[in-house]
Amino acid sequence: MTRRSLRPTWGRVLVMLRIDKVDVSYGSVRVLHGISFHMDKGECLALLGSNGAGKSTILKTISGLLNPDGGSIVFMEERIDHLPTFEVAKAGIAHVPEGRRVFPQLSVEENLDMGSYLPEAKKQRKRTKEWVYSIFPVLEERRRQMAGTLSGGEQQMMAIGRGLMLKPRLLMLDEPSLGLAPIITDGVYEKLGEIRKQGVSILLVEQDVLRALGICDRGYVLKNGRIHLEGAREQLLADSEIKSAYLGM
Ligand SMILES: Nc1ncnc2c1ncn2[C@@H]1O[C@H](COP(=O)(O)OP(=O)(O)O)[C@@H](O)[C@H]1O
Ligand SMILES: [Mg+2]
Repeated sequence: MTRRSLRPTWGRVLVMLRIDKVDVSYGSVRVLHGISFHMDKGECLALLGSNGAGKSTILKTISGLLNPDGGSIVFMEERIDHLPTFEVAKAGIAHVPEGRRVFPQLSVEENLDMGSYLPEAKKQRKRTKEWVYSIFPVLEERRRQMAGTLSGGEQQMMAIGRGLMLKPRLLMLDEPSLGLAPIITDGVYEKLGEIRKQGVSILLVEQDVLRALGICDRGYVLKNGRIHLEGAREQLLADSEIKSAYLGM
C-alpha cells in the first residue's frame, strides 16, 4: 500500500515528537507496521482511522504501555521507546485513555490528585488544580462528589483534567467523544480548544474526522496498522477518499 502525502513542503518548526518506522505486536501478531509521523511543538495533531486501525496501540506505545519491536520514538530530542510509563510521564507526556478509566468510588478531587503522582507534579498540585478548575469549573463545583456519580461528559472532563495535573507538554487523548451524545461532545471539544490555546500540544485520536479536524491543523489516517494518508485539515477534508470512507459523502 502506498502512502499518499498531501503535506506541503514548507519549512518546519521545532519537532516535538518523532515516530520512526515503529512496528508493534500483540504476542506474535503484528498490528503496527512501520509507523512514521511527527508532530511539531504547539500543534494539535489528529490520528484518524476506523475501529481496529491501530490508533490506541500507537498511544499505548508512545506512553510506554507497549514496547515496539522496532523503530524509534523521540520526544523533545530524547529517545523514549522502551522507557517505563512513569519515565514517559516525567518527560512530559500525559495519556488520557480510551473509556476514561475514572475511579468511581473516589471523589473528583481525589481522581485529579492521582494525576499528579510524580514528585515534581505533586509539589505544584495545588496550583495546577486551580488551573484545571479554571478550565473546568464544573469539576470544582463537584470536587467532593464521587466520580461514579458524574455524567459521561463530566467524567471525560475529569479524565482530561487528571491528565493536565501532570502539567504535560503533550496531551494525548484517545477518542474523547466515545459514547457521548453530540451536544456533550461539543462541550468537551470546546474545552480542548481552550487547552490548546493555553499552549499544550495535543495528539488526538478520533474516529470522528470532522470533530478532530475541527480543532487540529493536520492529521494522519491509519488503515490496517499503516499510515495511509496525511495532510493539513483543508486537504484532508477535500480528499475524495476521506469524503467517501469517513464522512459518508
Ligand atoms: N490486547 C490486545 N491483544 C491482541 N490484539 C489486540 C489487543 N488490542 C488491540 N488488538 C488488535 O490490534 C489492532 C489495533 O487495535 P487498536 O489499536 O485498539 O485500534 P483502534 O484504537 O484504532 O480501534 C486490532 O486489530 C485489534 O484487534
Ligand atoms: Mg482505540
